[in-house]
Formats: sequence, structure tokens, C-alpha cells
Amino acid sequence: MHITSLTLRNFRSYEEAEVLPGEGMTVFSGPNAQGKTNILEAMHLCCTGRSHRTSHDEEMIRWGSPAAKVSVLSSQKDGTHEVSVILTKGQKKKKNVRIGARQAERIGELFGHVFGVLFSPEDLQIVKGGPSERRRFLDMQLSQLRPAYFYALQQSARILGQRNALLRAVSEHPSLEGTLDTWDEQLALAGASIVKARREVIGELSRMACEEHRNLTTGKEELSLRYTSEAAQQEDPGAFLLRRLQETRADDIRRMTTSTGVHRDDIVISIGGRDARTYASQGQQRSAVLSLKLAQTSFAEKERGEPPILMLDDVMSELDPDRRRQLIERIGCMQTFVTCTDISDLAGATQGRIYQVREGKLYL
Ligand SMILES: Nc1ncnc2c1ncn2[C@@H]1O[C@H](COP(=O)(O)OP(=O)(O)OP(=O)(O)O)[C@@H](O)[C@H]1O
Ligand SMILES: [Mg+2]
Repeated sequence: MHITSLTLRNFRSYEEAEVLPGEGMTVFSGPNAQGKTNILEAMHLCCTGRSHRTSHDEEMIRWGSPAAKVSVLSSQKDGTHEVSVILTKGQKKKKNVRIGARQAERIGELFGHVFGVLFSPEDLQIVKGGPSERRRFLDMQLSQLRPAYFYALQQSARILGQRNALLRAVSEHPSLEGTLDTWDEQLALAGASIVKARREVIGELSRMACEEHRNLTTGKEELSLRYTSEAAQQEDPGAFLLRRLQETRADDIRRMTTSTGVHRDDIVISIGGRDARTYASQGQQRSAVLSLKLAQTSFAEKERGEPPILMLDDVMSELDPDRRRQLIERIGCMQTFVTCTDISDLAGATQGRIYQVREGKLYL
């Protein structure tokens, strides 16, 4: 797929802006704090319904404006898709999604209309941060590709919240304990479908990321991913999760929280057999995340039958010249949106459109 236009109104530092990208690379170049990342954030919002750097949607509305709107027009195998996300201050429904002329009822309906993979400096946390960062990486990827996964996640989070509330109630009124049975069953059921999807995807993603990393590092480093979830080792993850919930119930009541389940899953990312979180250098961690993101694009292409768009925010600054060259070669003719402060960082790339970004305005 590729994007044919992106328009912003009262989004972050932009009053009005329009991007008309070509099919290859589109560059946003300019000094710090001019609005380069804001553009990629707007695109990410149309891909996923959320920002990659804040969970507070209101922050994206231009200061002094009551609402922001971002629209993307994309061209795919099955035709043209138009999506808009409208953020409004102070209203009951603060986020509205439009698909064509139709108002979507759920944010999840957005997935697939614009499919993109974003690499941003914050993504270093996928390697450096705690397990929740890696779960989020995987969950975002899978949710965009498989709406059923997104709904299973939502359901699992809701049941978990209810079970935890009930644990608090049971710790005060032990006679309520029997009511936990149905929640345990439902939690195990939703968890099983999540574990199965994660197990399958991590296996495939690991193979793809290993290949990407070998290319990026010209064969110097071996990257691998390992899913650490007790349930994933079992033939019947649902039965296992249910048994664990029952075994840990007494403890859970005492602690008033659920200690076992898919909300504790993690992925170990290793370089040369050693945990990258502990041992990898900053540049290695950055490269590992980049390999993961590139693997995501291959995975998405395999699932959807066409490549996604790639967004690279400030990616070149910490890569050595060899890795830069490999990356530029890898991007090839994919539709890619790149930000940079110095255009010479992109030497060797076939740059399509170059937008100069100055104080929330774009100049060609
Ligand atoms: N809600 C908002 N309304 C108006 N302006 C905003 C809003 N949110 C952020 N900004 C402005 O956007 C600017 C940052 O834009 P952005 O993060 O895109 O910069 P950048 O060009 O990517 O810079 P860098 O090279 O440092 O990454 C901030 O300096 C801030 O003034
Ligand atoms: Mg930036």
C-alpha cells in the first residue's frame, strides 16, 4: 500500500498542512523542534488510533484550538481508503474515527486502512525497558493485522480488571470466593487465544528479525527472540492457564492482584546469545530495534500481501556508516517517511520529495 496524501488541521504545531508523498522516500528535514516528528505522529495516529509518544490525546490538539483533525488517503490492492481521526477537547467522546464518509463505532475498525511501521527514538525501550514495552510492541503489531487479536486483548484486560476487583472484595468477604470461578474460566479462555497468536508470531518474527539483523550488521551479529511464557510451552495453554489461576488463587486473594497470565508475558531479545537488555551497546540496541521493525514490515507484507509504509524518525544519528548504508539499501523502493536534521545523513538514498520543516510549516 502507499499513502497518497496526509492532511493535518490544528494538529500539534501545524495549523494546516498537506503532504503529498511520492512512492519511494519522503524526507522531512529541519533543525530541532520544528515539527518533523509531529508529522510521523499524525500518520501513526491514522494507522493505530493513538500517538506513539503520549497516551493523552489532547496533547496533540494545537494549543488554543478546540479540535484537531488528521486525514490519510491510501491506495491499496483493493482500492482507495480514506481515514480521518478527529480529536476534540472537553467533549464526552474525545476521539472520532471516520472511514470514508462513515463514522466508525470502534477504534479497532481503523486497522488495515493505513498500515504502517514506525521506528522512533522511544522504541529503544523495546530492548531497554521492562516486559510491558515488549508486550506493547507485539500487541500493536498483531492488533493492526488481526482485529480478532485486538478484541481478545481488550476482553482479557477487562476480565482481568474485574477479577482483580473481585479479589479485593473476596479478601474482605471470603464467602464470595466461589464467584471467581467464572472469571478464571473466561480469563484462561481469552488468554489462550492471545498465547497462541503470540507464540506463532514471535517464532516467525524471530526468524525474520535474525535475517534483517544479519544484513544490517553485514553478518557480524546474530539476533534472536524468545517468548517467555509458561503457557506457551503447553499443548493446551487454556487448561494450563486455568490450572495456574486456581493454584495461585489463595496468594492472589492475599495480594489482591492476579499473579499469573498473559499480562506477565515477555520476550527475551538476544544478540549473540546474550540478553540485549543487559549487554548490548546503545548502537546495538538501536540496531536490534530497527531489525525488529524491518521484520515487522516483512511480516505484515506476508500477512497482507502488500508492503506497509515505513516511518523512520531520526534513525540515522546513531548508526555507523556501514549500518546506514545497509539500511538505505534495505529500504529500497518501499514507501518510507524519514526525518532528519541533516540531509547528508541520507547520502546514497534515492530521495523523492524533500520537505523542509520550519516552525510548523512545510516547504518543498
Ligand atoms: N499541542 C501543541 N500545539 C502546538 N505546538 C505543539 C504542540 N505540541 C508540541 N508542539 C510543538 O512542537 C514542537 C516539537 O515538534 P517535533 O517533536 O515534531 O519536533 P522535531 O522537528 O521532531 O524536533 P527534533 O529534531 O528535536 O526531534 C515543540 O517544540 C512544540 O513547541
Ligand atoms: Mg523529532
